[in-house]
Amino acid sequence: MLTQKMIQRLNEQVNLEMYSSNIYLAMSAWCANNGLHGSAKFLKDHSKEELSHAYKLFDYINETGAIATIDTIGKPDSDFKDLKDVFEKTYKHELLVSKSILELVDVALSEKDYATFNFLQWYVSEQHEEEKLFKDILDKFEVIGMEGRGLFMIDREIASLVQ
Ligand code: FEO
Repeated sequence: MLTQKMIQRLNEQVNLEMYSSNIYLAMSAWCANNGLHGSAKFLKDHSKEELSHAYKLFDYINETGAIATIDTIGKPDSDFKDLKDVFEKTYKHELLVSKSILELVDVALSEKDYATFNFLQWYVSEQHEEEKLFKDILDKFEVIGMEGRGLFMIDREIASLVQ
């Protein structure tokens, strides 16, 4: 059984994952509107993945006899300087999500909720993967550069990351 504090923090994480989904969807729209269709596809795909993160938490909360609550989701940014700005923001956002997951793990430990602690390990690993994914994309901007055909090549590389 989850404590009230644990339920509240898990529900906040549901909201953050849904917000993440909307952030990436807004970024996808910006990319599509700027002819960056590889990045648009990647970000839309990632938006769906964020929803799956929210659903996994949603199911866990409901399975424990508590109730998942759906709260207001913040409005994401929809204007970006360029593609590099988009991916700098994705990376920064993932660092924030990782911090939130680690705080959640701390709450599980302080509440002696070992089942939730165990459940959260999936998110700890996932955040490691997400940080790496976006850091690798940012590195492409340094290696390839955005001049000339660079932007086209980066967009194509990002498209190849869609599974
Ligand atoms: Fe669900 Fe990208 O964190």
